[in-house]
Amino acid sequence: MDQRLFFPATERNRGPIGDLLNQMLPASGAVLELASGSGEHAVFFQQRFPYLRWQASDPNPEHRSSINAWIQHQGLSHVMPAALYLDVQRRPWPLPQSMRTSLNAVVCINLLHISPAPCTEAVLEESALLLPSGAPLIIYGPFTRHGIHTSVSNAAFDRSLRDRNPQWGLRDVNTITSMAASTGFQLNDVVSMPANNLTLVLRRA
Ligand SMILES: C[S@@+](CC[C@H](N)C(=O)[O-])C[C@H]1O[C@@H](n2cnc3c(N)ncnc32)[C@H](O)[C@@H]1O
Repeated sequence: MDQRLFFPATERNRGPIGDLLNQMLPASGAVLELASGSGEHAVFFQQRFPYLRWQASDPNPEHRSSINAWIQHQGLSHVMPAALYLDVQRRPWPLPQSMRTSLNAVVCINLLHISPAPCTEAVLEESALLLPSGAPLIIYGPFTRHGIHTSVSNAAFDRSLRDRNPQWGLRDVNTITSMAASTGFQLNDVVSMPANNLTLVLRRA
């Protein structure tokens, strides 16, 4: 049975996200992707950045099966490790030792708005413990700026998220900025992306 899942947004956003990652990612080492979902991003980025070792992860077993099915389908089993069980709130994160010693970036796409606020804190705190100085934590998704929605559609999306789960909802860029300072990151770039999303690039001090 084919266990691959298809998340339609990944086909639209993987190009623009990949172009930005191309400027921000290191030239070697491992990248940890949090909340990899279907795994479509993971295999696409592993193919685009063959000199990096892409470690996908997700706490959802169906998503991990999908990630592994995508890895196999794309013939990447010899370069990509299997999807890791990683819930950002269960700390310390269970990274294999080989990954700890080579980790040069953490990528987090579309997680912070669809998880409780402590997940945001966990992503920054735990990434700060794992990344070497100067290495990036790259976060993509919808955010508010100075407490204000950047579009009508983001405001509606935020309401629908909070209806589904009162702990979910768009985070504010300022929250990330102040959290960055207290966890040992600097927020270096805030890049506007298609469909009213942003990419935040934090670097470990
Ligand atoms: C909206 S999907 C995004 C998936 C993928 N990054 C993408 O953009 O298509 C959110 C993902 O976050 C994962 N997730 C939810 N809570 C999480 C947590 N506490 N730690 C890590 N991942 C989590 C879900 O299993 C799901 O795969």
